[in-house]
Amino acid sequence: MRIDVLTLFPEMFEGVFGSSILGKAREKGLVSLNTVNFREYSNNKHNTVDDYPYGGGGGMVLKPEPIFSAVEDLPPSEGKPPRIVLMCPQGETYTQRKAEELSQEDHLIFLCGHYEGYDERIREHLVTDEISIGDYVLTGGEMAAMVIVDSIVRLLPGVLGNEQSAVTDSFSTGLLEYPHYTRPAEFRGWQVPDVLLSGHHANVAEWRRQQSLLRTLRRRPDLLERMELTEKERKWLQQFKDS
Ligand code: ADE
Repeated sequence: MRIDVLTLFPEMFEGVFGSSILGKAREKGLVSLNTVNFREYSNNKHNTVDDYPYGGGGGMVLKPEPIFSAVEDLPPSEGKPPRIVLMCPQGETYTQRKAEELSQEDHLIFLCGHYEGYDERIREHLVTDEISIGDYVLTGGEMAAMVIVDSIVRLLPGVLGNEQSAVTDSFSTGLLEYPHYTRPAEFRGWQVPDVLLSGHHANVAEWRRQQSLLRTLRRRPDLLERMELTEKERKWLQQFKDS
């Protein structure tokens, strides 16, 4: 997969793209992560990329020319045509499902804006997706793009050491994850649940499924409404709903 991020602040990405799992994925050649400063595509001598809004009012608007030029100057995509993703609070709210969808692509381009907004022609004639990472406003799209890139790259084959770990994640299963424990079996008097020490795989699997269901009921009941549960699971959960 190739990912290009258009930003006025490429230095913000150095640490994130160079460290931990993303850094390793890049070193292994599993993903190509690039930044482009679209100020280099400004079409005026002051290198500005924003201008006053037609019709007046406060704030500045990102001009279309530098963004279109920067996208058109990227090396041609190999494989499917790119998805061009605009980071903005008005976009669709990001979910694990969207991460899974985008992880199937060959080439992703992220547009990170600052200032009041984007010239509408960028939305209408360039981008394929508009994404928000939540109902709050950031100073720019960069941190949102980092969140999205991170969530996509970890889904790419070979990126996570243990293939299991992306499969049982919270949300991938539609439920929140069950509790985890490691050694010691007793810490400050607090015991690890006996079933986990039992070595009985079927019982462990059942306990984990129940804990996932219970945790989801307590923390994110909205997720449970969309889940298909067995009759047995539904009955088991009912006792906690009543209490
Ligand atoms: N830019 C500013 N706020 C944002 C948000 N919540 N999500 C994505 N991009 C943004």
